[in-house]
Order: sequence, then structure tokens, then C-alpha cells
Amino acid sequence: RGKRAFIAGVADDNGYGWAIAKSLAAAGAEILLGTWVPALNIFETSLRRGKFDESRVLPDGSVMEISKVYPLDAVYDNPDDIPEDVKTNKRYAASSKWTVQEVADSVKQDFGSIDILVHSLANGPEVTKPLLETSRRGYLAAISASSYSYVSLLKHFIPIMNPGGSSISLTYIASERIIPGYGGGMSSAKAALESDTRVLAFEAGRKNKIRVNTISAGPLRSRAAKAIGFIDMMIEYSLANAPLQKELSAEEVGNTAAFLASPLASAITGAVIYVDNGLNAMGVGV
Ligand code: NAI
Repeated sequence: RGKRAFIAGVADDNGYGWAIAKSLAAAGAEILLGTWVPALNIFETSLRRGKFDESRVLPDGSVMEISKVYPLDAVYDNPDDIPEDVKTNKRYAASSKWTVQEVADSVKQDFGSIDILVHSLANGPEVTKPLLETSRRGYLAAISASSYSYVSLLKHFIPIMNPGGSSISLTYIASERIIPGYGGGMSSAKAALESDTRVLAFEAGRKNKIRVNTISAGPLRSRAAKAIGFIDMMIEYSLANAPLQKELSAEEVGNTAAFLASPLASAITGAVIYVDNGLNAMGVGV
């Protein structure tokens, strides 16, 4: 049978999660999505009304099928964690079973198991603030939504992941080099995500024969990136300075994820894989 993938962090057709879903679907995987609760309604409506039909077309002309879309908020592990104001928020009250534990339980109930887990989500409420102006609350929120969310997802999905399975997240070079503008503790969150990739590769590899890698992606004009406010500048900078002077397409990141999830990458784990036209290798801009 084909592989089954759960991709967390898809709420439109502009981001890396959508592109990864397409590449995995093109390689024959069954697609399940986890969509942030506040974005669920508009995403499902758009799907139903055919707004994404054009971008669902795969290279062979067939159309990506999405077996199920699960509401998810990766900041909460189980119902005990949900604060009252969120519980009573209209958008949240309209959905149910969206904590990480409950989503893993639902996927188990609906499909039994998965082979591929993708974490393509991040959130930093103070991302536009320099680190020196970031509050403790903002910093911890960035780490919770962007780093611990991955630990939690993997922890709860490992019991339903088949041995030989593969898990992938998305990171950014701001974890290791100074990228002014990527603030609010988001650079710290990506550093944690990369370090955790190594430790989780060890733990999930030894115990469950699951590989854990992260893709350090170049700039893409996604919804999340537009919210940071410097994405056009980053794309221009890369065009001017990277070894490969072309705009990065989300599909190139999707294809790398499909490779990493496949047996072709059976000895790759604990790695940060750059998909950025080589920009990371430059020492100076020229
Ligand atoms: P995106 O906006 O398509 O994806 C981010 C998703 O995270 C959204 O769908 C949002 O609804 C979801 N999300 C936010 N908080 C959540 C929560 N608590 N629970 C569940 N879902 C939540 O944007 P993009 O850029 O494709 O982001 C995907 C990943 O790629 C992120 O980890 C991002 O940091 C990473 N990345 C993006 C780059 C870029 O230039 N766009 C560059 C390098 C890495």
C-alpha cells in the first residue's frame, strides 16, 4: 500500500505545507492535513468552493486528493491545557478534538497509522520586535508554537507511525546567523527546533526506527512570511547574492521533503538540509 502522510500547518495554497502535500501526493502518498483552528473555516470553504482546484493539479495532470482535514492547535497538548478564553472563543467552540493528543487519537481511529509526519507551522506574536524588545510572554509563545509544537506532535504521533517512518519540519537560517527583522524569539525557536531535530532523531531512531530531519528553507512569500514584513527584501537579497540566482519555488522544498520521506533517504536522520539556492554557503553578499 502507499504511504500515508499527516501534514500540520496548511491553511492555504501559498505555503510550504501545501507544496509538501503536493509533492508527497505526486509520489503516491495519501494526504491528511492539520489546519490551525482559527483558519479552518475559510480553508475548508475555499477547498469546497474549488478555490484551490488549479493548484491541486499535480505534474502528471491528476488532482491531489485530501483524505481528511483535521482542526489542530499545536499549542495545546490535551483538553486540560485549554484556557477558558480559548475554550469559549467562537472559532474554537465551532470545532472539537483539536489538541495534539486528540488529533493523534482521531487519526488513529480514522486511518490506523501514518508513515510521514510533517510540521510546517510557526507562530511568534512578537516576530516584528527585536529580541531586546521581546517580552518573556512573546518569547515563550514563539517557542511553544514553533518548537515545542514539534516535540509534542512527534511524541503523540510516534505510537501510530510505522517503523521506517519519516518526520520533517521547516526551519530558517536565522537560527544560526543574524537575520535582523526575524525577531520575537523566532530565531531562538528555530535554533531549538534544529537542536531538537538531532535529539529526536536519536530517540525516535533507536526506539522506533523513525527518521527526523529539518529543511532550512529559503524565503517564500507565504501568509506567515508576509506577516513578518521583510519577505520581499529577503527574496531580493537571495536573488542578488545566492549561488543560484533564481527565485525559490515552494515545489523545490516540497520535492526535498518527498525525497527525505522516501527510502532514497534511508540513511539521513538528524540533519538540517538547506533548500535555499545555496545562500547559506555565502560568507559575504556580492
Ligand atoms: P504558512 O502561513 O503557509 O504556514 C504556517 C502555518 O502555521 C499556517 O497555516 C498557520 O495557520 C499555522 N499555525 C500557526 N500557529 C499554529 C498553531 N498553534 N497550531 C497549528 N497551526 C498553526 O507559512 P510558511 O512560511 O509556509 O510556514 C511553514 C514553515 O516554514 C514554518 O515553520 C516557517 O517558519 C517555515 N519557513 C518559512 C520560510 C518562508 O520564507 N516562508 C523560510 C524558512 C522556513
